[in-house]
Amino acid sequence: MLNDQAAGLRAMHANKTQSRDSTPQPVRVIAVASGKGGVGKTNVSVNLGISLAQQGNRVLLMDADMGLANVDIMLGLQTKYNLSHVLDGEKTLQEVIVEGPGGLKIIPAASGVRRMAQLSAMENAGIINAFSELNGELDILIVDTAAGIADSVISFCRAAQEVVVVVTDEPASITDAYALVKVLSRDYQLSKFRLLANMSRTPAHGQQLYEKFARVCEQFLDVSIDYLGTVPFDHDLREAVQKQIPVTVYRPNSLAAKSFKGMAKKIETWPIPRGVTGYLQFFVENLFQSGH
Ligand SMILES: Nc1ncnc2c1ncn2[C@@H]1O[C@H](COP(=O)(O)OP(=O)(O)O)[C@@H](O)[C@H]1O
Ligand SMILES: [Mg+2]
Repeated sequence: MLNDQAAGLRAMHANKTQSRDSTPQPVRVIAVASGKGGVGKTNVSVNLGISLAQQGNRVLLMDADMGLANVDIMLGLQTKYNLSHVLDGEKTLQEVIVEGPGGLKIIPAASGVRRMAQLSAMENAGIINAFSELNGELDILIVDTAAGIADSVISFCRAAQEVVVVVTDEPASITDAYALVKVLSRDYQLSKFRLLANMSRTPAHGQQLYEKFARVCEQFLDVSIDYLGTVPFDHDLREAVQKQIPVTVYRPNSLAAKSFKGMAKKIETWPIPRGVTGYLQFFVENLFQSGH
């Protein structure tokens, strides 16, 4: 199977070098974070990833959450290897990447993610090298982070160009999201965030939640919060989770799926990262040298 996959990736590369310039292209790196767990980060990461892939982007989803509801479970995928095997030198990055629905590529979660910030210089160089193999293979990297303000979450958000904060209309979700934005802005000088209001009752409810959150953040912190959009509370999404099929595939016409597609279109209009920060290497180097 791994051989098949390697062959597939080689074929993909061959196609691409015919049609695209082989010099590294800017990659959008989007971290999906929340503060509180269970608010929908993994569903957001997976379904935005699939929608962006369906729109013709080459998307890689990195599962950086070691919690229970992992990306591979949500997609019903059997995964054997992950980033820790790359760190140990047992596998190449391309060998641990699995393919999900709609051509979405996935790096499964690793307990190794926790220790990534404490890599030796050798491991560090190795992983940067491993990611550089992906240069020119990728348009968008989405990182599904863990709940809370763990060091790894901070590292991923700092290294990404875009941080999508997922909130629901509950006090704990809002205060935890605020705490995350506060730490990232006060201690790490991040100043721009995107908000996604999940499980809203109506589009207006989602918009109100955004306005409430943005007002408080912008009043007390030196940040700007943009509205990415809202996903309604949707029973089709719950059913899709049960079936281990992403809602954008299971019920493409559901309200939730439609809102993910709308947001994916919006993401495509975000400015393309320019300068060094636009390259994958910048993300990886930043990630492993962020002092955590
Ligand atoms: N828009 C939604 N509508 C209904 N239920 C949702 C929605 N988004 C998430 N959920 C429910 O919340 C649960 C947790 O979602 P998940 O994406 O795993 O959150 P997180 O990754 O933040 O922990 C899902 O299993 C699903 O049942
Ligand atoms: Mg999750």
